[in-house]
Formats: sequence, C-alpha cells, structure tokens
Amino acid sequence: MLTRRSLVKAGLAGLAAAPLIRRGAGAADARGSGKPFRIAHLTDIHVQPELESAKGLASCFAHVQSLAERGEAPVDLIVTGGDTIMDCMEADHARTQTQWDLWKKVKADACSLEVKSVVGNHDVWGWTKSKARTKGDEARYGKQWACEQFGRPLPYESFDRGGWHIVLLDSVFPHEESYVGKLDDAQWDWLEKDLAAVPAATPVAIVSHIPILSVNPLATSEAGEPGKDGKPSFALSGGLVHVDHPRFQQLFTKYTNVKACLSGHLHIVERIEFGGVSYLCNGAVSAGWWKGQHRGTDFGYAVVDLHDDGTVASRYVPYGWTARA
Ligand SMILES: [Fe+2]
Repeated sequence: MLTRRSLVKAGLAGLAAAPLIRRGAGAADARGSGKPFRIAHLTDIHVQPELESAKGLASCFAHVQSLAERGEAPVDLIVTGGDTIMDCMEADHARTQTQWDLWKKVKADACSLEVKSVVGNHDVWGWTKSKARTKGDEARYGKQWACEQFGRPLPYESFDRGGWHIVLLDSVFPHEESYVGKLDDAQWDWLEKDLAAVPAATPVAIVSHIPILSVNPLATSEAGEPGKDGKPSFALSGGLVHVDHPRFQQLFTKYTNVKACLSGHLHIVERIEFGGVSYLCNGAVSAGWWKGQHRGTDFGYAVVDLHDDGTVASRYVPYGWTARA
C-alpha cells in the first residue's frame, strides 16, 4: 500500500515549477471555470525484468501520487498510453507472462489511483509468429491478453469524466508479421456512433497509442526517391503515425468538440495545434526503453488538465529516474 513514508522513500525529484501551458480550442489563454479534470498520462512504460524498470515504474507512480503533497491538484485518473510491457509481439508465452505479471504487481503495490489503459503495439501478443512461436489460435493471441490485463472485453472504450468525454482507441492493426497505425472498419463505425452520441457542448479527448498526427516522422526522415511530381519526397512509415489521419481530420471537422488527441509510441514530447485540436505526444515513462533519454526526452509523464471550457493544459514531468547499468 502506498504511504507517505513510501513516497518519501522513493526519492522523489522535485516537480518542475513551470506553469502548465494552456492550449486548445484556439484560445491559448482562455480561462475555464471550476476545477479541471486532471489526467496523468503515462505512456510507453515498457516494464520488463531488466534495468530495474519495476523500481522505475514504482517511483513514477509515487511521483504522480505525490502531486497533492506538493501543493498541486491531485490526479483524478491515470491513463497509460500503450506499450505497457517491453514487448510481447515477438515474445513467447513464458516471457509475455513474466512481463504482464510484473506490470500487475507494480500497479497493485505502488498505485492506488484508478488506471485506464490503451493498447500499444508491444502489448499485442505473438503477431511476429516466427519469433513468438505462436500459431494464432491461442486464447490470448493478439490483443486478448492485454484486454484481459486491462479488464475489458474490447481494446477500445469511451467514458465520461469531469465534464469530458474520453475515448481510448486501439490504433494497432496487423501488417504482415508486424503492425500499422489505423482503425479497422468496426472501430471506425463504433467511433463515429460514439461521437455522434456526445452532446455538442461536451469536449472530447481521444487517447491512442500511435499518434493520429505528428511532425516527428517528417523531422527525422531525409528526402529520398522522387514522388509522383518528380521531386524528392519523404517516405513516412505507417507504423509511426495513423495512416487514416485524413479520415480523422474529416471527422474532427464534423465534431468540433474534439479538442485533444493524446498519444505516445514515438518516445518524444511534441505539441501540435492543428484544426482546433491539440495533438500531444507525451514522451515515455521508459524514456529510451530504460537505457537513458531518447532524443532529449527524459523519463517522465504528462500532467494533462482538461478544463470545462474545452481548453487543455499539459506539462511533461520528469520523475527523477536515471538509467541503471
Ligand atoms: Fe514504445
């Protein structure tokens, strides 16, 4: 059980003193009324038996739960953004079981807040059959094992909290022995019906593992082969961003109450304001897969405040972990 003493023992680093940056709804300095709904977005945890990652995750949970002791508003809900475990797409049954057991234990021992979870590509069991030694007919094959861990029948869901409608998407679909970022037809149908049922005055936040929109793949790629117009073009992998992002843009034109899209996957911190929506890629609890920072991204999580006027404030919070040998 988490106690004040255990929080102190966890050696929490000081919280960044910088104020939350308010954005979204086209009004960076808008003021909401009342208390915002506060989410801690912990993405890309990649817990594993190695590199003392279980201790690192416990210290992250402790840090999240220490906000109130530090004079800040407490967190209302933790949302994990996918890649909960190091990897099971290529892992056999025993290794997958070990990783999920570790996640379950650390969560039970170190977290007393409600946790909702998004499925990441590394949480999908056995799609790389040649390495995972799966056949595809196992009861926990694919996303089933993650759904079991997250306590729900489907890899996506939505719920209402703090005056907001929150949607957790499943953005991982098979491509050969790997994956691509998209929704399938069934989930598109569900999402369109789900948003249609939300009152227009209710703001919506969407959480996916793979970013719906990101500039990062462009920022890290080099111009290569000529495109249709004969000019050098950029090749962006559909494993990095949603290949169906134009359909999202179209949907958001219809449902202008969608204010924020939170994601992980890229292990970077990024903020994009586009079409009235804030796209927040929120780093990684594991930074560079527990081996150190990743392109300047520290071991951290995001504190996301959803205000009742539809504005969104977010801050990336390093929790003081450093890589272990
Ligand atoms: Fe990841």
